Amino acid sequence: MMSREILFTPSQITEKTEELGREITANYSGRPLVLIGVLKGAFMFLADLARAIDLPVEIDFIRVASYGDATTTSGTIRLTKAPEIDLTGKHVLLVEDIVDTGSTLTWLHQYFKEHHAESVCMCALIDKYERRQKDVMVDYSGFRVEKGFLIGYGLDHAEQFRNLPAIYEVLPDE
Ligand code: IMP
Ligand code: MG
Repeated sequence: MMSREILFTPSQITEKTEELGREITANYSGRPLVLIGVLKGAFMFLADLARAIDLPVEIDFIRVASYGDATTTSGTIRLTKAPEIDLTGKHVLLVEDIVDTGSTLTWLHQYFKEHHAESVCMCALIDKYERRQKDVMVDYSGFRVEKGFLIGYGLDHAEQFRNLPAIYEVLPDE
């Protein structure tokens, strides 16, 4: 049995999400904003964040796959689902569950630049910084953690645990 320890409760997540929503609302006022959720991990955070933003927004999704084992990204990224909204002249806010090495966000940033977005910013619920390899700017981040493998609230381990309402750290076996 895999043991786990709670890191962020549902009410801490709600409070943080509302804070981010207020900041985004203030910064994007008067500009066409498109929220792009990075599947699958960001689905739950995007649903809550979108409701905390008091602006007209468009919502779309992108999905990328990276080759690697269960707990690391390899850095080789390929697009498996493209967004469908025309992004020309729009301000894209990428919504991610967690940034680890930064490879995914670096790749996504380039993708949206090439697809003529007016600007591209990043919002990640969790900024996990110990293994960062790329110099990426997480413009809006909820929680900063140094390391550890996290599950819940969209985050999976081998496709399990995405539905947990809180975020947990997986503890190594004793
Ligand atoms: P990066 O490209 O190394 O920054 O990895 C980002 C992606 O790896 C995230 O979008 C997640 O899908 C996955 N990931 C990284 N750390 C964790 C974790 O602690 N739990 C679950 N998924 C993770
Ligand atoms: Mg992800």
